[in-house]
Amino acid sequence: MKLYYFSGTGNTLYVADRLSEALGARGESVEMKALVGPFGGVEDEAWKRSFEPNSDCIGLVFPVHEGSVPQHIRNILSKLNLDGVNYIFAVVTHSGFPGEQDIQLQKILEKKGKSLNAFFQIRMMRNSPAEFIPRHTYNQNWPEALDGQWTKKDSWETERMLSEATAVISERATTVIPKRGIEKWAAYAKQWAVETIADKNNQKIPFFVDDDCTGCGICEKVCPSGKVIVRERLPLWLSKVNCYHCYACFNYCPTQAILVTGYTKKDGRYRHPAISADIISRQRIRFIQTDATEKKHDLLSPRHVL
Ligand SMILES: Cc1cc2nc3c(=O)[nH]c(=O)nc-3n(C[C@H](O)[C@H](O)[C@H](O)COP(=O)(O)O)c2cc1C
Ligand code: SF4
Ligand code: SF4
Repeated sequence: MKLYYFSGTGNTLYVADRLSEALGARGESVEMKALVGPFGGVEDEAWKRSFEPNSDCIGLVFPVHEGSVPQHIRNILSKLNLDGVNYIFAVVTHSGFPGEQDIQLQKILEKKGKSLNAFFQIRMMRNSPAEFIPRHTYNQNWPEALDGQWTKKDSWETERMLSEATAVISERATTVIPKRGIEKWAAYAKQWAVETIADKNNQKIPFFVDDDCTGCGICEKVCPSGKVIVRERLPLWLSKVNCYHCYACFNYCPTQAILVTGYTKKDGRYRHPAISADIISRQRIRFIQTDATEKKHDLLSPRHVL
């Protein structure tokens, strides 16, 4: 089976790794493939070929962004050739407000004559700043999460969902009943509105950098889209590379030098305790950023906050 995954700060990578292990223990052969692509999509033939399922079963494992399947993942999925695939499942991680990614996936798959067979949502820690929702309404206590206390308290939910998913998937059971008629079109319309708002919210780059930046390069290393590059010991965001809004740069910066409006250093940062910068960076796009490549972009200096 091919397990397509994406993760900003490790929650989903942890889930994908665990799922892969558990299915492997049941005799499945699992190949993992990161859902990342140059400039947000599957652009050229070689890249497209690397995404070919070569299996009759695929899994999609990703986080919820703004109640939606992240935009770059929708983009890649819409270009995937799923001929020969007979069983499709999805496992999404979220922080308490998941929405209906099963509807979104169904809509994409339907156009390819396919259907979603099984769908699971796993609640984990929120990895993005609270933005418009009051912070206290979240289960967000990042220092506690990194101490491992949250992991101990709430990880039973992750474990329970993982074993349920493993059992369903290894039996190739179908748990999703596709909606029909008016109910289906109403659900599609609702998800279209959610997607439109999510994509609009995601257009702006909210990051600033302060004087604590040491030029260490970790933000470049963990950025899965290749948007961040560090030059002359300062991070720059390339104008023509789509941001995946995963908050990896913000959260993995060891000095918390990357900031967003209304969110200070004392608010802390989050990454899954088991997923280091080295581990998360394994999914990063490996395309060579030559000077010629960089010349195609405006190098966006973040506003310097003193
Ligand atoms: C830009 C952004 C938007 C998010 N929107 C939602 C949301 O609408 N609902 C929700 O429950 N969690 C939301 N989250 C939280 C993540 O889905 C959750 O923390 C997830 O487990 C992160 O996975 P990762 O560590 O693999 O990136 C959002 C996170 C980000 C970065
Ligand atoms: S990770 Fe932080 S300290 Fe390191 S280069 Fe990036 S912004 Fe600077
Ligand atoms: S710039 Fe930051 S938020 Fe955007 S894709 Fe890179 S790591 Fe993720």
